[in-house]
Amino acid sequence: MTRAMIAAWIAAAIGSLAGCGDEPALSIAKLQDPDTCNQCHPRHVAQWSASMHAYASDDPVFVAMNRRGQRETAGALGTFCVKCHAPMAVELGLTDGTSFDPAQLPAAARGVTCYFCHNVKSVEDTHNNGVVLAHDQTMRGGLPNPVSSPAHHATYDKLMDSTINQSEICGSCHDVVTPRRVELERTYKEWQTTFFAQDDPQHHLSCGACHMPSSTDVIADAPGLHVKSHSNGFHEHLWPAIDQALTPFAGAEALANAIKRDLDPAIAIIGPATLTSNVQYGGICLDPPGELFVRIDSISVAHDWPSGAAQDRRAWLEVIAYDASNNVLFQRGVIPDGAAVDPDGLPDLDLIRMWDQAFKDDGSPAHMFWDVAQVDSRLLRPPVTLDKNSAAFDHSSRVQFHVEGIFTSIDHITARIRIRPLSYALLADLVGSGDLDPAVASRLPTLDILGTQRTWSKATKGTGAALNTNCSPH
Ligand code: HEC
Ligand code: HEC
Ligand code: HEC
Ligand code: HEC
Ligand code: HEC
Repeated sequence: MTRAMIAAWIAAAIGSLAGCGDEPALSIAKLQDPDTCNQCHPRHVAQWSASMHAYASDDPVFVAMNRRGQRETAGALGTFCVKCHAPMAVELGLTDGTSFDPAQLPAAARGVTCYFCHNVKSVEDTHNNGVVLAHDQTMRGGLPNPVSSPAHHATYDKLMDSTINQSEICGSCHDVVTPRRVELERTYKEWQTTFFAQDDPQHHLSCGACHMPSSTDVIADAPGLHVKSHSNGFHEHLWPAIDQALTPFAGAEALANAIKRDLDPAIAIIGPATLTSNVQYGGICLDPPGELFVRIDSISVAHDWPSGAAQDRRAWLEVIAYDASNNVLFQRGVIPDGAAVDPDGLPDLDLIRMWDQAFKDDGSPAHMFWDVAQVDSRLLRPPVTLDKNSAAFDHSSRVQFHVEGIFTSIDHITARIRIRPLSYALLADLVGSGDLDPAVASRLPTLDILGTQRTWSKATKGTGAALNTNCSPH
């Protein structure tokens, strides 16, 4: 079928909508409402509706934190938070941030909407949402030569193209510098240090290349209209990572499954990649006379892990060593589900933690953005170079435990990494100040990452190729 035929089909399919001449049928106001897109892009709408971009302003923790922030700063926070979590509400002048209530907003203004991403004219800043909208009827995307649609103008824009080495739109929101100039969320900045951001077509990968995988799904679909004209032209609009809705939300199960899909292989307990001989190093290993090593690596993560809201995440390593009768000889990071990792706001010094510990001016733990004076960052680092001779090549973290007294009795060892999207201490703080419903805190999940669930045993020296005999030399 030719492009002209497809265009004619579309015109027929939405004949009642068609405007005159070149004027698209849908007004700017209509295009701002995600429901409008459902008529022709139902898959995009269903996925987006389950995503954290749709949830960004409904998120009860967000609403609670913004409310408290406005109170504690006497409104000085202004639109700082809502500018990223409900950017269209700010664009449309529907909120000044101070008494923000998503329930009062129309669908066009809640969350990070279709229109907000697809109407970008330029990006003026690398952080704090420097995205500037065109406010016109053109939907920009990464498809070269889109079939013309009478509903809206459609055009290719390189800012939207995830196949090149730029990530400006995503990056501008995924990088937060607080009003006190603390670089609190740094995903974009971290990505820029990696080879994924370099101008090397062999290796560069944008945010969208990893977080919006492409497929042959139908792009525009309505009665009489079925556009699948671009090979691999459909990009997933679910953006799974860590966060999930803490209140009932459409598509929660689809998002949870996709989080598992992406997270399970992302982090591993594994031997080093820099194998120079036939020796296979272990992800878990024991070295006489009494050292236990665990080596943690992020696999194809193009920024730190956790990233972004790393001050709110709680990720840690659990290690348990047993004797031959299954008695526990040694353990670290065994924290029951539902129990806080850092009940007093400070983690146990022995805990192998992966998050940004945030502090106030007086050195006490900070839970709230606007209080943060500095952070002590302990995150897994991304790969920055492909040069195997460079000292920066191995970006893994190797942790060491002294187990002298029990060394010879150890029969088997289990390890895993667990992560919570938020800390119980933060939620308790928000419940305590009356800003958050306690029921929300009880829904906080603890995620176990399959790639890190490892067992070492004296008999087999581990299972699978990635695990076994020798401790790595560095
Ligand atoms: C009446 C049907 C219809 C409606 C309603 C509609 N679109 Fe489209 N849209 C299309 C068609 C057809 C294409 C061309 C698809 C192709 O070439 O594969 C398209 C293409 C696009 C593109 C791709 C542009 C590019 O070059 O990459 C984007 C982005 C887009 N639409 C966004 C939206 C958004 C957002 C909405 C809701 C505000 C919306 N559309 C509503 C029919 C529609
Ligand atoms: C966070 C930003 C963002 C949001 C929100 C968003 N999109 Fe997209 N969308 C993109 C990007 C980026 C691409 C292009 C990816 C590429 O081509 O590499 C895209 C591509 C598209 C396309 C072209 C086909 C394809 O899959 O590439 C359509 C149609 C589309 N989006 C519709 C929608 C609709 C409808 C919504 C809301 C329900 C929406 N988008 C929300 C970022 C977004
Ligand atoms: C207008 C600002 C904005 C833009 C533009 C934006 N995001 Fe987001 N994104 C957010 C916010 C806010 C959240 C968190 C919502 C929440 O959890 O309440 C989020 C959440 C996410 C998540 C889920 C994080 C988690 O921990 O689960 C991913 C992944 C993501 N975005 C990727 C992208 C990509 C890729 C792009 C570009 C195509 C993009 N974002 C563009 C603001 C933005
Ligand atoms: C090479 C692939 C890749 C690229 C490129 C990439 N990411 Fe990620 N990202 C991952 C993986 C893998 C994870 C971990 C999987 C998970 O959390 O489910 C992740 C996790 C995330 C998270 C959740 C982190 C957390 O701990 O809260 C966010 C947000 C995110 N990415 C945003 C981005 C943004 C924005 C960009 C571009 C600046 C980007 N990513 C580039 C692979 C990538
Ligand atoms: C520059 C854009 C930006 C600003 C400003 C911003 N956020 Fe976010 N916020 C994000 C992004 C992006 C994520 C997702 C980060 C991730 O998953 O790593 C997020 C995640 C969150 C979450 C989800 C839970 C979590 O911590 O992962 C909460 C709650 C939140 N932000 C609250 C706030 C509050 C309150 C403010 C203002 C004090 C604020 N944000 C300011 C972009 C922003």
